[in-house]
Amino acid sequence: MKAMYPGSFDPITLGHLDVIRRAANMVDTLYVVVMRNPSKKYFFTTEERMKLVKESTRDIENVVVDMHDGLLVDYAKKMGINVVIRGLRAVTDFEFELQMANANRQLLPKLETVFFMTDEKYSFISSTLVREVATLGGDISQWVPKPVIIAFKDKIRRD
Ligand code: PNS
Repeated sequence: MKAMYPGSFDPITLGHLDVIRRAANMVDTLYVVVMRNPSKKYFFTTEERMKLVKESTRDIENVVVDMHDGLLVDYAKKMGINVVIRGLRAVTDFEFELQMANANRQLLPKLETVFFMTDEKYSFISSTLVREVATLGGDISQWVPKPVIIAFKDKIRRD
């Protein structure tokens, strides 16, 4: 079975990585898909976001990292994928996730969205929180994989 785990990953966090590890255990191939929405402003470029996901998942054999800049269902069709993985941190995630899962199923009826409950130790972590703390000089080392810590240092120094 193939599944996809789409997201902005701006940047990847330990919460994402936990979902990736658990999902990869249940499928043959997990496509981690870095999505690019041209109307959205990201902190890291698509290439940087992809590189960080690749570096952080290097030890997981059945993970393939890819990017896509259209509809999620078009990627699923192109790759013959019928399962979308998403993480749920708290009730507050539910409404948006339900809307997305229903929209995606109407666009591609055979597409199932499967939710993983984020490990409670990561339930408050978001990429937004990580970006804010990192850019204000705080310590994000408990929340993100090592390559992300280095990437923030490099980027902040360059900017
Ligand atoms: O990490 P995020 O920002 O919560 O991920 C959201 C994402 C990228 C998975 C979602 O916005 C998405 O699927 N975008 C692709 C465009 C699309 O297919 N939209 C219709 C489904 S709601």
